Amino acid sequence: MTIDERLVNSNFPLPAIREINMAKHPTSISLGLGELKNFPVDNKITNVFRNIDTEKALSYAPNAGVPELRYAIAIEHQKYDGFNYTEDNVIVTIGVQNAMYATIKTLAGLGAKRVLIPDIHFGIYKKIPEYFNLDVHTYRLTPDFGIDYNHLESILLNDDIVILNSPANPTGRVLSNNEQEELSLLLNKKLTNGYVISDEIYNKLIYDGETPAPFSKYFNRTITLNGVSKSGAVAGMRVGWCICRNTALAKAIVSANASIISCPPTINQLAALPVVCGETTKTISDYNNILNTNRNIACNILAKANIEFNLPKGSFYLFPKVKNIINGDIKTFCINTASMANGVVVIPGSAFSAPDYIRISLASSEIEEGMNRLINAIKL
Ligand SMILES: Cc1ncc(COP(=O)(O)O)c(C=O)c1O
Repeated sequence: MTIDERLVNSNFPLPAIREINMAKHPTSISLGLGELKNFPVDNKITNVFRNIDTEKALSYAPNAGVPELRYAIAIEHQKYDGFNYTEDNVIVTIGVQNAMYATIKTLAGLGAKRVLIPDIHFGIYKKIPEYFNLDVHTYRLTPDFGIDYNHLESILLNDDIVILNSPANPTGRVLSNNEQEELSLLLNKKLTNGYVISDEIYNKLIYDGETPAPFSKYFNRTITLNGVSKSGAVAGMRVGWCICRNTALAKAIVSANASIISCPPTINQLAALPVVCGETTKTISDYNNILNTNRNIACNILAKANIEFNLPKGSFYLFPKVKNIINGDIKTFCINTASMANGVVVIPGSAFSAPDYIRISLASSEIEEGMNRLINAIKL
C-alpha cells in the first residue's frame, strides 16, 4: 500500500475528550474540559506578557529551557524531596504532554521494553509508549481508585517503566504519603533497573486533606513530570517539565526533545516563573476553595440521585460509575447529552479505558445547573 492509499484507508481520530467537546450545543454547559477555564489568571503571570523585554523573551532559549526557570524548579522540588537538585536535573518542555513524549522516547531509545500504567488512565499513557513499540500493561486500581499493590507486584519486572498519576485524572484520587511509602517499598525491592514516571501535574490542586510529597522523595529512580497548565489556569501557555536525580538521563531527554521542539517558547517560560516560585499561592488556594465548594455541590446531587462515586480530593474531576444507571452505550449518551439544546458536556469513561464511568469536571461556575441537567438526562 502506498502512503496515499493508507491515508485514504485510515482515520486519524482526535482525542476522545476533544471529540465530545466538539459535539457541544451552544446552550449546553461544559463539564467536559480538563482546564480551569474562566478561573482568573494571577496578574503576576499576565504582567510578564505586559512588561515584555522583547530581546530576551522572543529569542531562542537553551534546549533544556531558560536557566532561571530550571533553577526555580530544582529549588522548589528540593524543598519537598530533599535531594540536592540543580538546573542540570531539569528539562523544560511544551507541557507535560511533551514531557511524557520526550521521556518515553528517551527510555525507548535506551532499551526500555514495557510500560505499566493504571487500568484507569489519561489517554497518552498508552498512546505514547505504543508509538515507540513498547508493550503497555495495566496494573489494577482498588475500588476506591488506590493502587492494588499485590497486582502491581505480580506483574512487575525489574526493568519496567511504571507510570504513576496522583492527584489523578480522571478519578480525583490522591495517594497519601503513607500510600506512597508503601508503594515505594515494593518498587525499591523490585524495580532495580527501571524507572517511575510520576505525572504530578495536579499536585497543587488538592482541596481536601494533606498535600503529599513528590513520589521522588520515596523512590530515587523517579522522573517527575509537572507543569503550570492546571495550577496556573494557563493550559494554553504550554509549559511543563521533567525533573530527575540522574543528570545523564536528564541530558538524554534534552537531546531527544531538542530534535522535536528545539526549545519551549521563551516568553512562556518566563511567565511560568511566578507559579513555580510560589508567588501565585494565594490564587491557587482560591482555586482550591472553589473546587471544594463545587465538589460538594456535585457530590450532593449525585448522592440524592443514588449514583455511586468515590469522593475526589484533588485534580478537578468526579468519576461516578453509571453503568447500571444509563441505558445503552455511555459514549452515545454523552454525545447526545452534549449536543442537545440546554444539555451538558461530560466525558465518557471509555476515554480513560473505563467504559462504566463518566468524568465530570468540577471547574465550572455552572456546576449546579450542569449536574441537574445531567441527572435529568439520565432519567430521560
Ligand atoms: C494527568 C494529565 N497529565 C498531563 C496532562 C497534559 O498537561 P499539559 O497541558 O501540561 O500538556 C493532562 C491534561 O489534561 C493531564 O490531565
